[in-house]
Amino acid sequence: MASGSTLEKPTYTYAKSLENAYKVNWRIEEVLGDRQFDTARDWLPANLSGAAAISCLNEEEKRKLTHIEMGAYANLFGFVEEFITPAIVDRAQSAGQDEVVAFEALTNFAAEEIKHIEMFKRVRALVDEAIGFPLALLDNEREVASVVLSKNIGAVLLLIEAIEWFTQLHYLSGFKDADALDPLTKAIFKAHWQEEAQHANLDHLEILKVFGAMDAAEKDEAIDDLLGLVVAVDGLLQAQVGMDIQNLAQYTGRTFSESETEEISKSVLKAKRYAFIESGVTHKNFLETFTQVTTPAQQEKVQTALGALLSS
Ligand SMILES: [Fe+2]
Ligand SMILES: [Fe+2]
Repeated sequence: MASGSTLEKPTYTYAKSLENAYKVNWRIEEVLGDRQFDTARDWLPANLSGAAAISCLNEEEKRKLTHIEMGAYANLFGFVEEFITPAIVDRAQSAGQDEVVAFEALTNFAAEEIKHIEMFKRVRALVDEAIGFPLALLDNEREVASVVLSKNIGAVLLLIEAIEWFTQLHYLSGFKDADALDPLTKAIFKAHWQEEAQHANLDHLEILKVFGAMDAAEKDEAIDDLLGLVVAVDGLLQAQVGMDIQNLAQYTGRTFSESETEEISKSVLKAKRYAFIESGVTHKNFLETFTQVTTPAQQEKVQTALGALLSS
């Protein structure tokens, strides 16, 4: 296992990240092969799923909900990788003539994200095959990518770093030791975890570089844009929850009453907000970068806004 693939403080250098990237690099065929998902098992670990807390679903329906949630979870990674890749290509192009290793590490990072987009596309097809119908999923990734890429690059990189640290946390805290979980799901997120560890380190280095070149007004703009991006992510999560309910009704053959719909929506949204927002912005390695590049006033502003969003 590469040393960067743990929660311990990584060695933040471009050379080490590239070296680790080459060590763990995998092919999609090695992960997926001709494997299938097992519908008799859960597909998403308990700490990332809203299923367990829902009283209006029986055990089989809860398991089916984890299948739907995992389909949406995998889709969202492919979704955000649509803006991560061009943002990192742009950072590679910004590397100076003498920063050869940084250029190599960043272009390799971007190439890995392209591979992940392709893997998650194949995962979506395998999910549809296993459950027997095409899941309704967010599909406006190109449109969202162009909006995200129009924002302050410091904000975009902070959002990317939060995402890449939570992929680390989710695998270690959820997938890794969940023995009853579907084995193909575990293999997919293990592979993703291995390559993402290097990305998180590179994000840190790029954030220091980008914020180091900003004046105070640009830093304020970055913080405002970051908050706007987090609100946009929350809007995507809410839209996917609506689709999850529709998918669950089709998968279970049930019609949900207004109060059942509300109970399911609330629990699934809570799990998605933890997965895609809270577990990233509270990750200790993300916070380490964030506090290095922001003032106490900016940190307080972000904390207040996120607290209000997550408790709404
Ligand atoms: Fe990725
Ligand atoms: Fe990544």
